[in-house]
Amino acid sequence: MPSTKKILLSGVKPTGRPHLGNYFGAMRQFVELQGTYESFIFIADYHALTTVQNSKELGEYSLGVALDYLAIGLDPKKVTLFKQSDIPEHTELAWIFNCITSMPYLERAHAYKDARAKDKEINVGIFDYPMLMAADILLYDADVVPVGHDQKQHLEYARDTAAKFNRVFGETFKIPEPLILKEVETVPGIDGRKMSKNYQNTIELFASDEEITERVMMIVTDSKTVGEPKDPDTDNVFKLHKLFATKAELSELAERYRHGGIGYRESKELLGKRIIAFMAPLRERRAKFEHDQTAVLEIIREGGKRARERAQKKMVVVRRRIGTLLGGETSK
Ligand code: ADP
Ligand code: TRP
Repeated sequence: MPSTKKILLSGVKPTGRPHLGNYFGAMRQFVELQGTYESFIFIADYHALTTVQNSKELGEYSLGVALDYLAIGLDPKKVTLFKQSDIPEHTELAWIFNCITSMPYLERAHAYKDARAKDKEINVGIFDYPMLMAADILLYDADVVPVGHDQKQHLEYARDTAAKFNRVFGETFKIPEPLILKEVETVPGIDGRKMSKNYQNTIELFASDEEITERVMMIVTDSKTVGEPKDPDTDNVFKLHKLFATKAELSELAERYRHGGIGYRESKELLGKRIIAFMAPLRERRAKFEHDQTAVLEIIREGGKRARERAQKKMVVVRRRIGTLLGGETSK
């Protein structure tokens, strides 16, 4: 029987090891919502190809994302886990979207503008990134797309592209909604800027206890000494506590901050302990899957089969709408 649940879809680019920003900004929601929605979660390896151009790295990072998904608690019985490059319909649909999208419209993308400011020789893939992402989403009739705050504009592109296609060729795509958690819009890095691989300010999700402690001790604070009152709302250590402490623990800590009852060193030690306690079970689960890579690959292969079936069906409709001969059925 077809599921009556709404559809959730999201993906992570295999570009390196995930950090707390990736987890709290996006990945955790996948796990929390897996029972509520019919979920499709994928490894965005063709998106990663815009920057990772080394076969060994792309392969390792892709397997890494699969392990991360399983380690954080995604259940392959509830979620279709797959790899973007296993479903050629994504790139096919992206091409169709290219043809109904104007250059000036894509030139307004923040990610493109940022990349352009850094390097004039950027590739077409980076420019076209939002079209592939629109295809990822619209191909599965996704209702909701959980992402971090910085992906908001990409979701706008997907919504606009769906509307544009529907206007030009007739009602075909659902307009997806972004799902962005307010309280963790942006996780700060150890330097206080947005935590990002690009800034080398991350705390990795699966780091060792020693690495976690070391990174936490490097968090930038002001120079107030132990007895001085401190502002919990502006302190980077406190902002990270928010992700791990209970409400009661947080308000107690905030009090201590305000009354000069805690130094940054102690606050950091406490944070380190909290992160380690939180991470330990995830790390254990990841290690277990790491020892059974055949099973992991099988999960991705199986998920790919299911996703592909769905994508193929949708593309028959799309091709028919745009008017390719017999809706593409001649090529079957
Ligand atoms: P990075 O900036 O490290 O390269 P990505 O661009 O690969 O991270 O982001 C992957 C996902 O994690 C996206 O949904 C993104 O919005 C989310 N994310 C990344 N960094 C943060 C952060 N610091 N706070 C909240 N969400 C984040
Ligand atoms: N662009 C997303 C990121 O950088 C990854 C991604 C690719 C994605 N396709 C997607 C996320 C589709 C949600 C839906 O994190």
